[in-house]
Amino acid sequence: MRLIVTESYEQSAYLSAQMMLDVIREKEDALLGLATGSTPISVYKYMAEAARQKKVDFGRVRTINLDEYIGLSGEDPGSYLYFMRKHLLDPCQIPPKRVMIPDGMADVQEELHRMNQFADANPSDVQLLSVGVNGHIGFNEPSDVFYDRFHAVKLTQKTRESNSRLFSSMEEVPTEAITMGTGGIMRAKKIVFLATGDEKLDAMKKILEDGEVTPDCQGTILKFHQDCTIFLDQALAEHIRPAAYVEVKRA
Ligand code: F6R
Repeated sequence: MRLIVTESYEQSAYLSAQMMLDVIREKEDALLGLATGSTPISVYKYMAEAARQKKVDFGRVRTINLDEYIGLSGEDPGSYLYFMRKHLLDPCQIPPKRVMIPDGMADVQEELHRMNQFADANPSDVQLLSVGVNGHIGFNEPSDVFYDRFHAVKLTQKTRESNSRLFSSMEEVPTEAITMGTGGIMRAKKIVFLATGDEKLDAMKKILEDGEVTPDCQGTILKFHQDCTIFLDQALAEHIRPAAYVEVKRA
């Protein structure tokens, strides 16, 4: 595990974007594992800028998303497909045939089968990640177990409340989602992880400090990943005492 302490969220996002772009430079048909939410927005901004300036060729890039709400179509502004199209897929001109994201309107079992068939045969070359306030990665909520493959989950009240900012009322926030399992996330060859904000401190302490790997804070499993880089801004990092095995650098 590597921790890079940055000056600001923007610098974390810029450096995360550079790592994602380097993967594409090394392998033009790279499979990028993508996340949604507020944290990756600037990462996608810098990636889209690089595409516009033709600093990197997205012509063969493939993507797979971690999760999608059950019951929302890709036309719904609250859906993760809508989010991805707005922030990355359309600006980088990545067509639907190279995009894997669960269809929130499809039969759930069939969709799980489709996603798992693809993911089992295609580990991501890189996975972009952030963390929920309760330590979730993807929508792998606190649990007694680590799930391996794509599965359906019931969202916790805490997650629904935290995501309600993107909907006009709490009632509109979906109650279920399809998510890649923690096992699938761990099969990515490289992890680029960023977090910001005081509300993520608890989860980041559990992930970076000396402590147990527990499904109660799903992100702690990243302690076992062979190539995981975490970007935290100084304001968050200063409250964390990383375990001795974490390689710490300043950007
Ligand atoms: C979404 C996802 C989630 C988010 C997490 C943090 O695809 O995987 O685990 O990364 O909920 O969300 P934000 O960035 O909005 O705080």
